[in-house]
Amino acid sequence: MTEQGETFGTRAAGTAADFLRSRVGRTGAPIAIVLGSGLGGLAERIESPTRVPFREIPGFPESTVVGHAGALIIGNLGGKAVLALAGRFHVYEGHDARLAGFPVRVLHALGARTLIVSNAAGGVNRLWQPGDLMLIRDHINLTFRNPLIGAVEEGDLRFPDMSEPYDSSLADLAHRVAAEQGITLRDGVYAGLLGPAYETPAEVRMLERLGADAVGMSTVPEVIVARARGMRVLGISCITNMACGISSSPLSHAEVLETTQRVGQKFAGLVSGIVAAI
Ligand code: HPA
Repeated sequence: MTEQGETFGTRAAGTAADFLRSRVGRTGAPIAIVLGSGLGGLAERIESPTRVPFREIPGFPESTVVGHAGALIIGNLGGKAVLALAGRFHVYEGHDARLAGFPVRVLHALGARTLIVSNAAGGVNRLWQPGDLMLIRDHINLTFRNPLIGAVEEGDLRFPDMSEPYDSSLADLAHRVAAEQGITLRDGVYAGLLGPAYETPAEVRMLERLGADAVGMSTVPEVIVARARGMRVLGISCITNMACGISSSPLSHAEVLETTQRVGQKFAGLVSGIVAAI
């Protein structure tokens, strides 16, 4: 990192947004979507898309994880102008938490005021099954990192309120759309861990006692930045596997991607419906 505030901050986000506006010939969009591991299929439903690879965007390094295409897409979904990030930056890749949250600053600079975040997650709630979709009602930041560490960015608060990280009216709307589509949508708490090793069975028992329903390695830095910018957030986890110890079988990224492939259409239909109804 260079000087605090210059990297991954408001000014850098403005530079990236200026570049993107001139590159795509559009001003931006009010709704943005972050597509989690294996959930990039939704991008195919975006009409009149323009894709900009992450590596072309000022301030973005390349995404490294299998299943992450690494592009910002602007187009229309459900009759609305949307921005989508296919891929994201994880702290386990060696990135600073500030970089993990930086794409959200860029989305905000492009006019996004509603953020839909998605991820693949392990199921901690024993009543659930792989393939279930969970509305994130709250999260527990067990990464012990925060993307707001450092000088206060222009437009941020030093101590942003986190009493409603996930917007309750958007959650109600998501439930309405899910019911219309005949989709069972769970409600739960997402525990965000650093990774990249999956959890041990003892750690999963701990998460259960802490009140977590699902566990993953992303999303939390993005939501913290979104709230610091005053964006409304909706979060959806795709439960790709039961967390270690709840299921006795060893865990692999292949299993995670296999489940996202199986439920990708259900997820894409739900998110498209939500965007249309916003
Ligand atoms: N743990 C952490 N992250 C995950 C998991 C898991 O079980 N499944 C998908 N992402």
